[in-house]
Amino acid sequence: MKVIQVGIGGMGNAWLRAVLDSPNVEYAGFVEINDAIAAEQVERYGLDGSKIFKSLPDALAAVQADAVINVTPPQFHKEVSITALEAGLPVLSEKPLADSFDAALAIVEKANATGLLHMVGQNRRYMVGPQTLKHALSLPQMGAIGSVAVEFFRGPHFGGFRDEMPYPLIIDMSIHHFDLMRFFLERDPVNVFGRSWNPPWSWYKGDASASLTLEFAGRQFVSYAASWCSQGREMSWNGEWRFECANGTVVMRDDDQVYTQMPGQEEVLVEPVQPARLGQPYLLQEFYEAVVEGKPPVTTCQDNLKSLAIVFDVIKSFETGQVVKSSA
Ligand SMILES: NC(=O)c1ccc[n+]([C@@H]2O[C@H](COP(=O)([O-])OP(=O)(O)OC[C@H]3O[C@@H](n4cnc5c(N)ncnc54)[C@H](O)[C@@H]3O)[C@@H](O)[C@H]2O)c1
Repeated sequence: MKVIQVGIGGMGNAWLRAVLDSPNVEYAGFVEINDAIAAEQVERYGLDGSKIFKSLPDALAAVQADAVINVTPPQFHKEVSITALEAGLPVLSEKPLADSFDAALAIVEKANATGLLHMVGQNRRYMVGPQTLKHALSLPQMGAIGSVAVEFFRGPHFGGFRDEMPYPLIIDMSIHHFDLMRFFLERDPVNVFGRSWNPPWSWYKGDASASLTLEFAGRQFVSYAASWCSQGREMSWNGEWRFECANGTVVMRDDDQVYTQMPGQEEVLVEPVQPARLGQPYLLQEFYEAVVEGKPPVTTCQDNLKSLAIVFDVIKSFETGQVVKSSA
């Protein structure tokens, strides 16, 4: 399968490595608007510089491709994904699906109208910690999940689009955690309530801290406390999770180690689950098998809209001060 990758700096590096290592996927071309980044990546990865174009329409006119990988900042996702789908090419896009719910809906409508796959790269589902946590939650001795507490505190200085966007934590980061909630609980939220704020020392324009309560179907409650401008101890990018189950607790902490504990007993470290492929290589193979072999993938845009709906329902709650019914 031959792909065009749009955006080859930043997170584009992870996709460059995944494609260059893949036995099944190769490059038809690239799109990059920044000449310095294009030159740097030609040097670093030995890319063919004559196949790097300034826009997706230019690339589509010049090379034959079977699919597009969209690794642009969120505000460009709609334009790039819709251009690819209109050209008849399936898309594998970085999260978030789009930077607004309307833009996301437009992508889903285009995917439905064309009948083409648009898949979202929720790579955090396919990491050792979350895979091990998912396995631990399925152990029959734990019993049903009652509630979940999630904490995420880091202080990354990215520069670029995140410093300028509204609600950078919720739109660009918490989408991973909301998608993980759906992955672990295997259900969707009923309503959400939250407050957001920007600490006085924050280097982001938009609110970088938040506290939420999410009610999932079957009265499963998730409390979520997070900040992207924490000045102290940092957690894993997956955050730290505590599941209160009928017969014990399941916890992920200490850089994605998973522990179970029953009443009156010592906690037990769960043997890490190590799938053959993780993260971007896993997603790329799933995308390839979907496009070439017709196997249904998991994180389609139609499914991912339910994760993204949490983002925009939460923002609605910030802005109205109300509990917001799920729009998914
Ligand atoms: N899944 C993850 O763990 C993860 C981690 C980081 C970023 N991301 C996502 O990846 C996407 C890109 O983020 P990033 O951190 O790489 O951003 P970035 O700004 O560091 O890099 C984006 C790259 O795309 C290029 N670009 C920008 N607009 C373009 C356009 N219209 N056409 C072609 N190229 C364009 C830029 O020049 C740059 O090389 C975002 O959606 C972000 O949320 C995902």
